[in-house]
Amino acid sequence: MEVRSYLQQHQDRFLDELFGWLRIPSVSADPKFRDDVFEAAEYVRARLEEAGADNCRLIPTKGFPVVFAEKRLSPELPTVLVYGHYDVQPADPYDLWQSPPFEPEVRNGKIYARGACDDKGQSYMHVKAFELMMKTGQLPCNVKFMLEGEEEVGSVHLEGFLKEHKDLLKADVVLVSDTAMISLDCPSVTIGLRGLCYFEVEVTGPNRDLHSGTYGGAVANPIQVLARMITALKDERLHITIPGFYDDVIEYSSEQRAEMAQRPFDLEAYKKELGIHEVEGEAGYSTLERTTIRPTVECNGIWGGYTGAGAKTVLPSKAYAKISCRLVANQQPERIAQLFTDYFLSLAPRSVQVKVHLLSAGHGVIVPTDSLAYRAAALALEHTFGKKPIPTMEGGSIPVVASFEKILGLKTALMGFGLDTDALHSPNENFGVANYFKGIETIPFFYHYFTQLSMQQQK
Ligand code: BES
Ligand code: MN
Ligand code: MN
Repeated sequence: MEVRSYLQQHQDRFLDELFGWLRIPSVSADPKFRDDVFEAAEYVRARLEEAGADNCRLIPTKGFPVVFAEKRLSPELPTVLVYGHYDVQPADPYDLWQSPPFEPEVRNGKIYARGACDDKGQSYMHVKAFELMMKTGQLPCNVKFMLEGEEEVGSVHLEGFLKEHKDLLKADVVLVSDTAMISLDCPSVTIGLRGLCYFEVEVTGPNRDLHSGTYGGAVANPIQVLARMITALKDERLHITIPGFYDDVIEYSSEQRAEMAQRPFDLEAYKKELGIHEVEGEAGYSTLERTTIRPTVECNGIWGGYTGAGAKTVLPSKAYAKISCRLVANQQPERIAQLFTDYFLSLAPRSVQVKVHLLSAGHGVIVPTDSLAYRAAALALEHTFGKKPIPTMEGGSIPVVASFEKILGLKTALMGFGLDTDALHSPNENFGVANYFKGIETIPFFYHYFTQLSMQQQK
């Protein structure tokens, strides 16, 4: 396959087109950006059409539409289903951005914008790799695109979508670039993602905000009760205290853990990059283990009472928090949601009332290294990086990946080109220009090797 010359000839346009997409603030979480989310869907639909795809359309869901496109060459050939998302996280707080989040610019070889990496930059590599294969007559198999607009809000309508469109989505493998690699010098393929349960909790004390002098000391303060309840979710060894929580967690052997520890990781650089003096986590596990093979509970936000200017002496009526659990492969989100809810309610003293709402849930993922999905990704990276990639587990979640297996019976190749330091979901999100082009260069080889491997298997 010859891809470099086409890439070189068209690289400026490949960047400009991505910038056009990044300028559309497709924040799925905020109703204010509803029209922009639709516009971002239409933008990429039109680019897929220009690149040579057929049946390019927006398929409505109860939420934001799925962008679908395909190129069918022959029923004898395998089909790659490309998944990505065109929605992005909110850009707040805006004042911490060095350049405005929806005005992309390149500084020091990096594209700065909300969605630069997660996942517009990474999804767009697939659109351009497809164009390249089409325009140079090198597409080796069938391809379908499915780009969703609700990933950042939990992909709530996607399971229904997969069930409803099983035939349309019929394929042999799913290909996703929405994860990270170790570095451009050390390529890796993701073999594990964590699952997730996300809750909002509400604690109510007295029936109204009270004068904290008249009542303080005699009536439960819901903020303080909530803080106590959250603290009680972990013991002093930072082990989660929810009964039954670890029942389905796989314990790895010391050999497996030693092998995983081979992956390059610089703890000093990690701390420095985050501006922390020390890491903190479950006793008995390394930093990498704590974020990959171990589950966790995190408080994502907490509010209540008076937070305005100056002092207001108040004993608030209510306190709230958003709390999420990251799960590992075998843990069932439904079961964990029940265990969390029961335990959290049991922590409440009689002086308050507590409500727990489950907002979203998703299963963890393991990609077997002997699957064609993994092998094709590894061969592709080896080809363009000149080095065998390392299999890595990651801490983030992409809930739909487990549904691809459950509903469509498909394995997924998690071939991401981002870096952990790309500031996903944070101010100044960025994506290396070199990573973007390396992705476009590598993707055609995934198609090539996957086609080769699956034809060999058929024989
Ligand atoms: N692309 C990320 C997931 C990710 C990030 C995987 C880094 C591996 C490394 C995805 O867009 C994301 O943010 N997922 C959410 C899921 C949630 C909204 C249901 C997450 O992990 O918090
Ligand atoms: Mn993503
Ligand atoms: Mn994300």
